[in-house]
Amino acid sequence: MVSAVRSVRLATRLTAVPRASFMRSTTSTTSVAQRAAFSMSARRFKSEVIKETEVPVSVYTPDSKGVASGNSDHFSIPVKASRAPEPIVEHEEDAVNPLEDKVFKQMPRTLQRMSVMGKVIIITGGARGLGNHMARACAEAGAKAVVIFDANQDLGDEAAAELHQKSGLPVSFFKVDVRDGNAINAAVQNVVDLYGAPDVLVNSAGIADSNIPAETYDPAMFRRLIDINLTGSFLMSQSVGRAMMDAGKPGSIILVASMSGSIVNYPQEQSCYNASKAGVIQFGKSLAAEWAKFGIRVNCISPGYMDTALNKVPALDAQKKIWKSMTPQDRLGAVDDLNGLCVFLASDSSSFMTGSNVIIDGGYTLY
Ligand SMILES: NC(=O)c1ccc[n+]([C@@H]2O[C@H](COP(=O)([O-])OP(=O)(O)OC[C@H]3O[C@@H](n4cnc5c(N)ncnc54)[C@H](O)[C@@H]3O)[C@@H](O)[C@H]2O)c1
Repeated sequence: MVSAVRSVRLATRLTAVPRASFMRSTTSTTSVAQRAAFSMSARRFKSEVIKETEVPVSVYTPDSKGVASGNSDHFSIPVKASRAPEPIVEHEEDAVNPLEDKVFKQMPRTLQRMSVMGKVIIITGGARGLGNHMARACAEAGAKAVVIFDANQDLGDEAAAELHQKSGLPVSFFKVDVRDGNAINAAVQNVVDLYGAPDVLVNSAGIADSNIPAETYDPAMFRRLIDINLTGSFLMSQSVGRAMMDAGKPGSIILVASMSGSIVNYPQEQSCYNASKAGVIQFGKSLAAEWAKFGIRVNCISPGYMDTALNKVPALDAQKKIWKSMTPQDRLGAVDDLNGLCVFLASDSSSFMTGSNVIIDGGYTLY
């Protein structure tokens, strides 16, 4: 109410200023009150723009001799409605939006090379966790087909069905234990028959044992973990590498190791896991050197502590606080925090990169 009264007063004051004195006032003799009235009302009404559909124009030229002569030009120019802005597509958190061919073609070369357009990608451990999210990322980054290898039948089948339903891409699931060389070979051959030779292997299948002192470690458990994490990396790489070589195709193998392959975790004792991941890193480097001649690149991703089911063990709750406190970013990695790195290593933009071990850990290994 107060402001309405005030604006009426201001408007009155402005219109009360004689035209001549207004013209003068814009030069030098404007009273403070007049200037205030002008600038305040201008500010006040700035947002109240009446949008015209056409703009009335009056043009006075020396020939027209002014309005009184009737020789002035009066006309209107049409106003083009400004084009409605492109709607911003809000992607649902959980949606998978595959890269469309027409969008890919419009992308600058640098971004095209950062995609995995047209590539056939096998991801082990893709039923859940980090592997599952890397599979989604590959689907979004242009993969021609995504293939999940996992030992968990229900989760794997569900994950493949969901990824296919969300992306519309060809997605397959093979129930394969990465310790089973024959099953791996049969499954890889089937992938070749279905989609052609794989371009990329992401080996994310793995398990962890922790809080087991070495002096009481059950040797059978030790062997099992090494068999899954290290021998599994070898069997998968060998089978997929052979398929790439047979097809004369370059390829990228990404082994998910861990920062535990380079440092010793604290406070939990987990010698076997740490040794298995150190083995994966050194295996990856050796393979990179051997297979460069085939155009096959091999790199490792070494995550720090990630917030996945692997770590959702009540016994680890207290230790998670310590892990966080030792991580400069003061958090565990999110389940999709490896996605960008995975796509980069799978893509041609990392074509001069092989034998690298990329640690992605929120800064944990800085201390
Ligand atoms: N979560 C972390 O903090 C963390 C940190 C560093 C490294 N990693 C590594 O990342 C990888 C993925 O971890 P995650 O957290 O997503 O674990 P996760 O347990 O959520 O997923 C692992 C997947 O691998 C599958 N798998 C397990 N054993 C298998 C086998 N023998 N054959 C085939 N599939 C098998 C499981 O069924 C599961 O789907 C693992 O290699 C893990 O060691 C995890």
